[in-house]
Amino acid sequence: MTEHRRPIIAGNWKMHKTVAEAKALAEAVRRGMEAIGGVDVVLCPPFTSLAAVSSAISGSKVALGAQDMYWEAEGAFTGEVSTGMLMDAGCKYVIVGHSERRSSFGETNEGVRRKSAAALSAGLCPIVCVGETLEEREKGIAHDVVREHFVGAVEGKSAEDVRKIVFAYEPVWAIGTGKTATDEQAQEMHAFLRGLMEESYDLDTALGTRIQYGGSVKPDNVAGLMTREDIDGALIGGASLKADVFLEILTRVAG
Ligand code: 13P
Repeated sequence: MTEHRRPIIAGNWKMHKTVAEAKALAEAVRRGMEAIGGVDVVLCPPFTSLAAVSSAISGSKVALGAQDMYWEAEGAFTGEVSTGMLMDAGCKYVIVGHSERRSSFGETNEGVRRKSAAALSAGLCPIVCVGETLEEREKGIAHDVVREHFVGAVEGKSAEDVRKIVFAYEPVWAIGTGKTATDEQAQEMHAFLRGLMEESYDLDTALGTRIQYGGSVKPDNVAGLMTREDIDGALIGGASLKADVFLEILTRVAG
């Protein structure tokens, strides 16, 4: 993490929490954040809890994000939610291209490109996820996969747009497994990703764009990850579901 990139921690609640549970968790995070500064915090509940979480964090430093979206503005797209609807619900961020959407719901690089473009033009900040599976890492093609995910997502976008994106490197083998990438493995891929930004755009874009790490981030490993030069934050699943654990992470990042 370097000075000009403000740390950003997002909680991806995935398919967890009723409306009442989501509201209680958001309120607890909001209260805890009153004593914590210097870090951007985003909560990404399921669609059904967006409105409740939005009112629970209203007027606070905590921001709201969605877990997915569709690129069309409106129409006959059963089951989908547009950027306008997300903004209306109070979102500032939207996760795009999470590996669970890629592996279980057929998300493609082209879809990620279109979704992130629609998010940017609506004024939402996309959190674009990239990352290889264990099989891909073992085959020695992790960098190729991350390159494809990155290039697929940014194709046709200006440097100015890319700087507004938050990228999240989430090695699939580290998600929900308790197996965090080592600080070294994460840093190495983050530096590679930043190199791709410089190659595709310029040094300012590379240095000005935030990259989160995701995959079994916990209070006891977050500080080590955050000391690495190219790691600017974390996208957190399991450890974002309990207020005390999530706040402990935020305290360690802020401290
Ligand atoms: P875990 O923190 O549960 O490993 O999940 C990571 C993730 O997928 C966040 O998007």
